[in-house]
Amino acid sequence: MKPRIVLTRRIFDELLPRLADCEVVDNQADLVLDAAALAARLAGAHVLLCGPTDRVDAGLIDAAAHLRAICNVAVGHNNIDLAACRARGIVVTNTPDVLTDTTADLAFGLLLATARRITEAERWLRDGQWQRWELEQMLGRDVHHSTLGIVGMGRIGGAIARRAAGFSMRVLYHNRSRVVEEHGAQWVDKARLLAESDHVMLVLPYTPENHHYIGAAELAQMKPTATLVNIARGGIVDDGALAQALQAGQIAAAGLDVFEHEPQLNPALLVCRNVVLTPHIGSASKAARLAMANLAIDNCLAILAGKKPLTPVV
Ligand code: GLV
Repeated sequence: MKPRIVLTRRIFDELLPRLADCEVVDNQADLVLDAAALAARLAGAHVLLCGPTDRVDAGLIDAAAHLRAICNVAVGHNNIDLAACRARGIVVTNTPDVLTDTTADLAFGLLLATARRITEAERWLRDGQWQRWELEQMLGRDVHHSTLGIVGMGRIGGAIARRAAGFSMRVLYHNRSRVVEEHGAQWVDKARLLAESDHVMLVLPYTPENHHYIGAAELAQMKPTATLVNIARGGIVDDGALAQALQAGQIAAAGLDVFEHEPQLNPALLVCRNVVLTPHIGSASKAARLAMANLAIDNCLAILAGKKPLTPVV
């Protein structure tokens, strides 16, 4: 009997032949599957190949009596109840490394767009507002030779710090566990990072402890000229408090790739002039997304062959 694998979302057509030895329940039409529809598909499934927007909670895991593995096409895994998986002996894998540089590129792009007001200036130009060059027009804040504060010095944080060196930036970082002086970056506590950074970059994983890691109190500790970039996960920033801080000029600007209730956005953010918004595209290059999907399939095939997965989480 072929093992049954359930794919929650559409994947690149050219990868499907890699699963030829499995009974594949795919979703190439990319239908929206609610929890009940997903549970129905999972009955009898041995492997679930899912993505960061699929909530795999204890109820869903209970409904999948034969499930042996969950292969997430994402490096983050806050969408999966790891405790429930551990209790059932279900292996969970993610897709680290293959998206590191792609995500760091997007982080830097957002930083530049935010600090130098690139998207705001483009909207203004397209609106037909540009009449003439002016010395004081669209003044932003420098990225080069400024201080960058990175919260979360993992793989992606490190890749951002390496890029920052090319911009002659001073790099501070904060991790709950103090690591080493990484990539020329200096460990500081959270309060000092917020107070001294010209640009704050969030790259930490989402956990219950990190919910609203940046809220009204933290925004009040930042410089009024500071920018904030979140490429990590929605929920790490209190979006409502951020919109208020942006409107009040408490900080200068923000660049956001992730949101608390994505794809829904807090309406207050949509009317802020000084925020750059992108739709969770941190790893969205063709090469990185192909590599992520391939790595998830590699993990799945290894597990089905009785081998160790390449990138296990649990
Ligand atoms: C995307 O958000 C990921 O975690 O890979």
